[in-house]
Amino acid sequence: MPPLLTLENVRAGYGPIEVLHGVSLEVEEKEIVTVIGANGAGKTTMLLAISRLVRAREGTIRFAGRDVSALPPHELVRAGICHAPEGRKVFPRLTVRENLDMGAFTRADKAGVAADLERVFALFPILKERQKQPGGTLSGGEQQMLAVGRALMGRPRLLLLDEPSLGLAPMVVATIFGVIRRLNESGIAVLLVEQNARMALRMAHRGYVIETGSIVMSDAAERLLADPRVRAAYLGE
Ligand SMILES: Nc1ncnc2c1ncn2[C@@H]1O[C@H](COP(=O)(O)OP(=O)(O)OP(=O)(O)O)[C@@H](O)[C@H]1O
Ligand SMILES: [Mg+2]
Repeated sequence: MPPLLTLENVRAGYGPIEVLHGVSLEVEEKEIVTVIGANGAGKTTMLLAISRLVRAREGTIRFAGRDVSALPPHELVRAGICHAPEGRKVFPRLTVRENLDMGAFTRADKAGVAADLERVFALFPILKERQKQPGGTLSGGEQQMLAVGRALMGRPRLLLLDEPSLGLAPMVVATIFGVIRRLNESGIAVLLVEQNARMALRMAHRGYVIETGSIVMSDAAERLLADPRVRAAYLGE
């Protein structure tokens, strides 16, 4: 079986500035993979390149056995890659329900969408309570739940999560990470970008370390957790 997602020598950036200098990475079916790195290392850019919101100028991205390097973003969602972006990007004036509906805009299977909505409400009951309220009125933690819920409405095979814990209280982080684990146990692969390296590595099967646009280490998450260089640079030890 080929990996679910493969990046091969991906170069991407903004205008004349190259941010990713040839990134290669794999996510296997049903795996949680984390990418850790400092501010500005290129983590968000990498996820944007996978979602095709930033163009890869070189390299190949394969998903589920096909080359998706040139697909438009909505086709990637249809293929099963759904992205909960950095900063959540909730539509503030749309209601919670409308935000969730936006996550399903590529789908025509009404019954499946309705079932997935119920699943999201079961995972995050607060979203059901708040469904008629504008997204912008939610708390930070609720907005993060909404961003994950919206991504789930695309029925992902691979979920891209960009800093889901950022700025949230420990209780909310525990809720969100608990849901991520359950989603993974239900068969969804996860590519998790986090500055909270310890939490991310505890949750993940494998990890990569990115420094200024290049992957410098990759290993089983537990080995990265024990690695002296990782401990010194990313775990504050
Ligand atoms: N839209 C943009 N235009 C120009 N440069 C950008 C843009 N977005 C990001 N960059 C630059 O690209 C580099 C990588 O940014 P990126 O957001 O991918 O890093 P990151 O690893 O996600 O950082 P953080 O941990 O702070 O979220 C940074 O130097 C940043 O300034
Ligand atoms: Mg980022």
